[in-house]
Parts: sequence; C-alpha cells; structure tokens
Amino acid sequence: MGQSVWYITTPIYYPSDNLHIGHAYTTVAADALARFHRLKGEAVLFVTGTDEHGQKIQRKAEAAQMTPLEFVTPIVQYIQDPLWKRLGISYDDFIRTTEDRHRQVVQAIFARLQQQGDIYKGIYEGWYCVPDESYWTESKLVDGKCPDCGRPVERVRQESYFFRLSRYQDRLREHIVSHPDFIQPTSRQHEMLNFIDAGLEDLSVSRTGIQWGIPVPGDPDHVIYVWFDALTNYLTAAGYLSDMRRFQAVWPANVHLVGKEIVRFHAVIWPIMLLALDLPLPERVFGHGWLLIGQSKMGKSLGNAVDPIALLDRYGTDAVRYYLLREVPFGADGSYTEDSLILRTNVDLANDLGNLLSRTTAMIHRFSQDTVPSLVSAADDGVLAQLAAEVYREVDEAIEALAISDALAAVFRLVRRANKYIDEEKPWDLARQGDQVRLGNVLYGLWETLRIVSVLLTPFLIETPARIRYQLGIDEPVRHYREAIFGFDPAGRQVRRGAPIFPRIEPKPAMAGVEHQENAPPISIEAFQALDLRVATVRAASVVEGTDKLLRLTVDDGVRERTIVSGIRQHYAPDDLVGQQVVIVANLKPSKFRGILSEGMLLAASDGERLSLVAPISHVKEGARVK
Ligand code: MSP
Repeated sequence: MGQSVWYITTPIYYPSDNLHIGHAYTTVAADALARFHRLKGEAVLFVTGTDEHGQKIQRKAEAAQMTPLEFVTPIVQYIQDPLWKRLGISYDDFIRTTEDRHRQVVQAIFARLQQQGDIYKGIYEGWYCVPDESYWTESKLVDGKCPDCGRPVERVRQESYFFRLSRYQDRLREHIVSHPDFIQPTSRQHEMLNFIDAGLEDLSVSRTGIQWGIPVPGDPDHVIYVWFDALTNYLTAAGYLSDMRRFQAVWPANVHLVGKEIVRFHAVIWPIMLLALDLPLPERVFGHGWLLIGQSKMGKSLGNAVDPIALLDRYGTDAVRYYLLREVPFGADGSYTEDSLILRTNVDLANDLGNLLSRTTAMIHRFSQDTVPSLVSAADDGVLAQLAAEVYREVDEAIEALAISDALAAVFRLVRRANKYIDEEKPWDLARQGDQVRLGNVLYGLWETLRIVSVLLTPFLIETPARIRYQLGIDEPVRHYREAIFGFDPAGRQVRRGAPIFPRIEPKPAMAGVEHQENAPPISIEAFQALDLRVATVRAASVVEGTDKLLRLTVDDGVRERTIVSGIRQHYAPDDLVGQQVVIVANLKPSKFRGILSEGMLLAASDGERLSLVAPISHVKEGARVK
C-alpha cells in the first residue's frame, strides 16, 4: 500500500429513526472534505455507518414488536439509499456495528485491555441516560436529569466491567496540550481540559440485563457498552487486526468529524482506548455546531426534525448541499429555516452564478459566434486572473482549516467580481467600438473564470460543475484541483447556451406576514407614465453612519452617477449590492436624509418580512426605461 491515506470519518448514526438534516449536515461536510482531498490526488478513505446496538434501539424494537436487527435493517438501507445516495455522499466504506468484522475487533480489543489490567470487574451504581447511552454520577446530574440532553435518567446497579480511564488521564492531558490541533475548535479544547482536570472516573464498559450488543468475551451475561463498541468502528474500518498492512497506511485518522455533543466521547474515552492499545491518536477531532430550529437543537425527540428527502425533492441535491455547507461557519451553531435556504439558492446560485454563466455564454455567442476567443495577454489587466489565483489559495487554506463555508464564500467572491467585471468592461461597447483584442480578453477571462469556478465547486456540488462545463463547451470532467489555474484551458471551445442552471425558487405562497392590502384605486395611463422608472447599476454602497436602516448608494443611470439614500440596510449588505442592477424612480423630487441629497428611490417588493429589490431578470443597459 505504501502511500499514506487521508482518513476521514463521520459519527456512526443510530438507526433508531430516520435521519434528519442535522445528520446530513455532518455527512455532507465530511463528503466535501473527502472529495476535496481526492481532487488533490490524495488517496482517501471516507467512512460513515450505523451504530446499531444499545438499549435505545433494543427498546424501540421491542415497542415495534420486532427483533432489533429487523427493526434497524430497513432504516440502515434507507440511510444508504435514498438518503446518502441522493445527497451524493461518496463514502468508501459504510460500517454497521452488527457486522462480523466489527464484532471480532471489539471483542479482541476488550480481551486485550482486560489482559493488560486496563479493564477489571466491579459493581456499577449510578445513572444512565438511554437516549445518549451515557453514564452519569449523582453529582453530575442537573435537576436530576441528564446534564447533556436534559432528559430523564435511569438508576442502574449491576455488576460491570470498568475501563481504567484514570490510568491514562495525565498522558491524555499532556497530548491535548502539546497538540493544539487535536481538539478543534479551540473552545472545545478548553472544555475537555476542564473535564479531565475535574478527575476521570473509571468508565463502566459493560451492561447486564440487555441483550442487544456484543458479548463480553468469556462472560456472555455482559454486553459491551455501546460507546466502546461504536468508537471502535474507526479501527475496524481502517483494517485493524484484519489487514494490518492497510491499517499502517490508513491510521491514524486525519479527521473525526463529530457534533459538539459527542466531542467528549471522541476526545477523552476514544484517545484513552487508543493509548491503552498503544496506537497513535487521530490528528484532529473536530466538533461542529448544531443546526437549530429557533433556539433548540434540531432532533427527533423535539419533534422539529426536517426530513432531508423532502428538501431534496423540493430543491435538488446541489441547492441542499450548498446551503448546508455555506450557510453556517463550520464549528458554530446556526438556525435552519427553509426561507434562508431559498434565499441562499436564489442569491448565490440562481442570481450570481446562473447570471454569470448565461451572460457570458450569451456574449460569446453574440460577439464571437460561440467560439471562445484567445487571450492576448498584453492588453489584459488581469483582474480576474489575479483574483482567481488568490481564491485558489484561499480555498485550499480554508479547507485545510475545515472552514468550509469560508471556502465557498471565496469562490462566490470570484463569481461576483466577474459579474461586476462585465458591468465595468461593457463588452457590448467594446464590440461596437471594434476593439477586438480587448473584447477577446474580456470574454476569455469570463469564460476561464467560470471554468475555474467549475473546478473549485467540484468537491462541494455534485451536478453543477458538469452543467456549467457543458454550457462552456467542455465535456471532460474535472480531474484535478490544479486545473483551477487561470490560462489552463486553451481558447477555441464552442459554448452551448442552455437553460438557467438554477431557476429561481419562488418563495412559498401564503407566507406568514404577507400584507394583503386592498387594491389601490384605479389610475390613468398618463398618471403611470408620469413616473420615470429606469434601470441603473449600483457602483458603490456604504452605510449611513448613525442609522441602522440607511444605505448610501451611487448608481449609474446610463447618463450620470447619482446618489440615492435607501432604507434597505437591514436587508442588504453594501458589498452585495455593488454591480447589481436595480430599478429607480428617476424623477422623484430630490430630498435630504441625514444631510445627504438623495436623487430618486429604488423599487423594492416587501411582504412585511422580507424585502427584495426589483431588478430586470436579464441584463439591460443602464438607463433602460421601465414601462
Ligand atoms: N451513535 C452516536 C455516535 C457514535 S460515533 C462513534 C450518535 N449518533 S446520532 O445518530 O445521535 O448522531 C449524532 C451526530 O449527528 C452528531 O454528532 C452530529 O454529527 C449529527 N447531528 C445530529 N443532530 C444534529 C443537529 N441538530 N445539528 C448538527 N448536527 C447534528 O451520537
């Protein structure tokens, strides 16, 4: 095997219910990271799977009058297909803890630790949280409930095997301190150090009285604690004990991606298991934040879970993936709303990316008979080439830091800059003036930027890169990250104009807060024509200091630049407006706001909740009359 393998894992999910978009969130993030590393030519092992034992599943199965295996199997199948399949999850291995290969490893590890004296038999007396499958001492409970999830706990008193966490406490602490990348984000590192410093108690690692689990070797009245069983999946999938040559290439894992509520298991119990086995510790345990509904964590038990399949049906794979990866900085909590998904899709994918593609192919069609012109670099100012090179580095660095949302933000900065470049360079004017060299450079630059974007988006989106490339006239798939370099692709391709790659999503009807106003009284056509409505392009935008509503905009109305003060600050960031076309009332009497003379106003639609500027749906010249 020789080559070292980049190994990434997700938590293995409980197949106690169908999964929701919180689970999809972790899995899509891991998938994007795996795809990114593959695109860089690395050998990757990406593992996900299901955690099928334990008391919670046993009870669910009893309630459904099925055996646990009968109960979980259809859920596991559903997770594989349609769920992960439709989300484009490119796992290399899907591990089920009920598989033989896994049972063997868990039992071998248990026996070895027992032999070494790291596992011993005693009596456990304390509390157990069934939904979390976690043990708690009396003093840790909060109001008599599980301190992690707030749900009721059950009293347990039984014979049990214990794992001597205490023996490894100092070595673990030392490792965390000397490897600042081990637990991320850093805030979680402090939490873990505090937890360790409070003193680690030996962990109960077996249960009696439940049957659904892996039996303790030589003592079948006990089944192995489900977390001990589950964490071991990371070794099983790497080939531990079954294929040690492969294991040498794969282990240690590069990233264990987990939700923040299970960092403790991965940053305390798991590394101690590995220390006891004399194995290197994973490079990184990354605890990401939660998707929230309002203020609470999305979850089955709260009844606020959003079904990923319903979203996929409505919006498609790439819109859902893009939203999950882009919306929330990876690591922080973030609120999920369907409206924010629609907004993200419309603004970034339909508007910014979709328009850039349709404008660029339309112009190459019109000014160059579909043929991508060649670059005559002498006359080119290199704006896009330079930004593309910056973004190339930024995406790479952001992914290295697992800042997935930042990586996408960088790609879309390039997209927006290219749209603005069209407005600045006005290729239609260059064509009219017969400036073929400049026109060729501009068109090639735009085309090449879109090709680069198709490469950069490859790890994140499934269908979009190929759809962009089809319209650009490229049939080859993206093969390597280094293709995202300006000038990589020669001129001469033939563009193929096509349908918008992301049609705008109409917000759901009957939105809360829509003001159903009475119709206004009729007016004459003359009264309407008295309004001078025109298309203008925003050239600059800034906030008006000392107000929380006002933006000061400089807009180009085709004749001159004028200042308009507009009360849209709560709905638009100034940077997002620059380069956008808007509709203005050009003959409104000028008036002053905060000492600034405003000459006109912007048209915007409002439903009482959201406000959206009105714009032509395809690019027209500044000054175009709206009638
Ligand atoms: N089976 C254990 C993990 C064992 S790993 C050795 C488990 N399973 S789980 O089905 O409950 O999945 C938990 C994981 O799902 C979380 O760690 C997180 O990655 C993801 N999420 C579940 N709900 C989530 C949100 N609301 N938001 C973000 N991620 C969430 O725990």
